[in-house]
Amino acid sequence: DGDVFKYYADGEWKKSNSGKSVPIVNPTTRRTHYKVQACSQEEVNKVMEAAKAAQKLWAKTPLWKRAELLHKAAAILKEHKAPIAECLVKEIAKPAKDAVTEVIRSGDLVSYCAEEGVRILGEGKFLVSDSFPGNERTKYCLTSKIPLGVVLAIPPFNYPVNLAVSKIAPALIAGNSLVLKPPTQGAVAALHMVHCFHLAGFPKGLISCVTGKGSEIGDFLTMHPAVNCISFTGGDTGISISKKAGMIPLQMELGGKDACIVLEDADLDLVAANIIKGGFSYSGQRCTAVKVVLVMESVADSLVEKVKAKVVKLTVGPPEENCDITPVVSESSANFIEGLVMDAKQKGATFCQEYRREGNLIWPLLLDNVRPDMRIAWEEPFGPVLPVIRIGSVEEVKPLTSVYMAEMQGCVFTKDINKAMLISDAMETGTVQINSAPARGPDHFPFQGFKDSGIGSQGITNSINMMTKVKSTVINLP
Ligand code: G3P
Repeated sequence: DGDVFKYYADGEWKKSNSGKSVPIVNPTTRRTHYKVQACSQEEVNKVMEAAKAAQKLWAKTPLWKRAELLHKAAAILKEHKAPIAECLVKEIAKPAKDAVTEVIRSGDLVSYCAEEGVRILGEGKFLVSDSFPGNERTKYCLTSKIPLGVVLAIPPFNYPVNLAVSKIAPALIAGNSLVLKPPTQGAVAALHMVHCFHLAGFPKGLISCVTGKGSEIGDFLTMHPAVNCISFTGGDTGISISKKAGMIPLQMELGGKDACIVLEDADLDLVAANIIKGGFSYSGQRCTAVKVVLVMESVADSLVEKVKAKVVKLTVGPPEENCDITPVVSESSANFIEGLVMDAKQKGATFCQEYRREGNLIWPLLLDNVRPDMRIAWEEPFGPVLPVIRIGSVEEVKPLTSVYMAEMQGCVFTKDINKAMLISDAMETGTVQINSAPARGPDHFPFQGFKDSGIGSQGITNSINMMTKVKSTVINLP
């Protein structure tokens, strides 16, 4: 059946025995654009067996050889940026130029990871016993980092390639095997990306990519006894995965209600530019998007005017035309965003633009005078709609932000570095950006969410370390 993209297992492209497929709806046309295999639990079992076997040999493969293969995969990925980006445009309506950037960034991430891996995994520790009370110098302890085994990677729809390789590359350099479950929307881009690893010549079974419905294979994958580590990025599903997973290391990146705090002395042109970039890039569908602006009343009018002037300049339309604002990923997502907008309207928010929607396409909207009793003050729209809450003093920031369950990042705009540091210290977010919008990159920076926003820390170095365990050998002298 040439219409359905095959899944990847044991170094081969395969059709599922289930005879079923999963449709991928193009957010722009709202029609089925691609189909992928609906893999069965039996097929997942086979993938896991192959992953376990391949990992044993891979762990014995010299580190420099693992790095060499990753560098090769990175180069192939960059060579194939055009067809992969094309899938991103059709599956998730990512603007064409951003889709290309995602693939290039992914190639760079894989190469950086290979370089970082040879450095940090090439080093171990040597300890001697006589530093601890009561011991003579009779014990020499050698420690090194060894792989965990099989890593399960589950990336989200908004970066199906980049947030897949940010899990694949650290897992592989550290000597693990990798099973990828791509998001349904983004699955074909992910399969193309996996093909680049296939072309690079990784051993059979070391990487596999199973597609299918979360309802059929989701829990089966995350609770599979062969899995030794899960790296997940996405929404609330992550919370239920963390409750069901066994005693294995978890890396979770969930949502974020990222606040942008604007003090009186801020450079308002800089703030407005960052609100546009932070709030409306990829139509607000990023966990690091600015999701609420908390601005001091004395500069609020001026800031809102500056942002409004920039919002009208945003282009709205299909991703193929590189519009700034493109259709959101699904109809249900558009309906959810609309629900938040209507709630704010009913409760008296000021609409800086008229609300407009056609299908999944929602025009950018700034909502001023939002109050905490409106859902949009604390829920994540994951769309091009941004609430502004006016505050009278910085003391109001803490009670407002602490009601948010998910805190990924935050940002503060001020020319006073002392104030910025005090606010940064007080914010319970994984990262605070001073005078810039939140962002995950550069990809070697640590990246983490607090509270319901995640578990563990990502970024290339942290991910490599997280996907290893420490092994000691102690030499006992007579
Ligand atoms: O939503 C995914 C998150 O990782 C965002 O990444 O690069 O847009 O800050 P970025």
